[in-house]
Amino acid sequence: MKNILITGGAGFIGKALTKFLYCNGYNITILDNLSTQIHGENPKQTIRELQEISKLIIGDVRDAEKCSQSIKNQDIIIHLAAETGTGQSMYKINHYNDVNIMGTSTLLESILNTSHNIQKLIIASSRAVYGEGKYYSQKLGFQYPLSRSEINLKNHDFEVKCPSSNLNMEAINTDELSKINPNSIYGMNKYQQEQMVLLLGKSLDISAISLRFQNVYGPGQSLSNPYTGILSVFSTNILNSNNIEIYEDGNQTRDFIYIDDVIESIFSSIKSSDIQQDIFNVGSGKGIKVIDVARKLRDLYNSSIEINISGRYRVGDIRHNFADVKKSKAYLGFESKTDFDSGIKNFVKWVECQDVMMDRYKESVIELKNKGMIK
Ligand SMILES: NC(=O)c1ccc[n+]([C@@H]2O[C@H](COP(=O)([O-])OP(=O)(O)OC[C@H]3O[C@@H](n4cnc5c(N)ncnc54)[C@H](O)[C@@H]3O)[C@@H](O)[C@H]2O)c1
Repeated sequence: MKNILITGGAGFIGKALTKFLYCNGYNITILDNLSTQIHGENPKQTIRELQEISKLIIGDVRDAEKCSQSIKNQDIIIHLAAETGTGQSMYKINHYNDVNIMGTSTLLESILNTSHNIQKLIIASSRAVYGEGKYYSQKLGFQYPLSRSEINLKNHDFEVKCPSSNLNMEAINTDELSKINPNSIYGMNKYQQEQMVLLLGKSLDISAISLRFQNVYGPGQSLSNPYTGILSVFSTNILNSNNIEIYEDGNQTRDFIYIDDVIESIFSSIKSSDIQQDIFNVGSGKGIKVIDVARKLRDLYNSSIEINISGRYRVGDIRHNFADVKKSKAYLGFESKTDFDSGIKNFVKWVECQDVMMDRYKESVIELKNKGMIK
């Protein structure tokens, strides 16, 4: 299985994956519309770089003809193309549904309508499908809480509460059998995407694998998209000598997984031979506080900007979520290798070699506030 189509192959994960697979002897086709939010107005350099290592088809996944053209002679499809901003998805609802859901259904329908050799489908899903994920309550045992109460958030009481005792619950590693509780349109989209891919895989007898990524970071991530990637957002703040605003109290945690590890998880899925249709978490398994991320970055850039904890909060944000990675280790033989301290250093070294991007974060905050998404 040497011919691989990567939708969204020009993006952060897609580009790293294309380079890796090209170096390992695969023939890569990319279908990507080079969306301006991610690639800016003039993506000439990206086009040039990708054309050297792949067949680049510039087009939209919602375009059935482009999809049919792209899937001819492919053995595997890796579907990465998506709109990815959790906050943005809460007010650009039609657009997110259109790209993420209609894009996936157009791609899948093209498989049905085209003569093809596809033997495997891999879809990039997200931890966003779980929302808050798995918690433990002394009184009730395992819990899968819905979004936090507005009254608590307004009173700056940010931890997730037991529905019975109202005491703080302990966040624990979220496994794949945890309840699906998305807190955002994006999270809902990712769930629908993966379920469509798994279902079609089953009905066509094609292996289908959904990888639920945690927060992916590392060299190559977009420094210009203010809607995703807190390492990028904080870095752009710092390099423009702007202070960092941290929402809530800074003690919210995220599971950060380094780009090379994510590529390894996809490669393990490509190589797997006995998975029919299944779902795997891809994360480091550890929660890292957002305030610690900001402090580490400030130190690494040798900056003296201020880190302000604002106590404000965003609709759709979760408090904690980190992956239970036992299943991906057992079935894919995959385990993340890069610890956060090494990964963040590599990221900073890479950022220091890039042009300093204009800080568009403030604009995005104004947009989110105007839509009532920051409180
Ligand atoms: N980066 C993360 O932290 C993370 C976490 C969980 C899941 N994911 C998922 O992984 C996938 C890749 O993420 P990424 O970080 O590389 O995102 P990215 O935004 O860097 O890349 C997405 C790519 O898709 C392309 N695209 C967008 N709309 C398209 C359309 N309508 N038609 C064709 N191409 C289109 C964009 O031009 C871009 O090149 C996404 O599906 C995302 O939801 C990413």
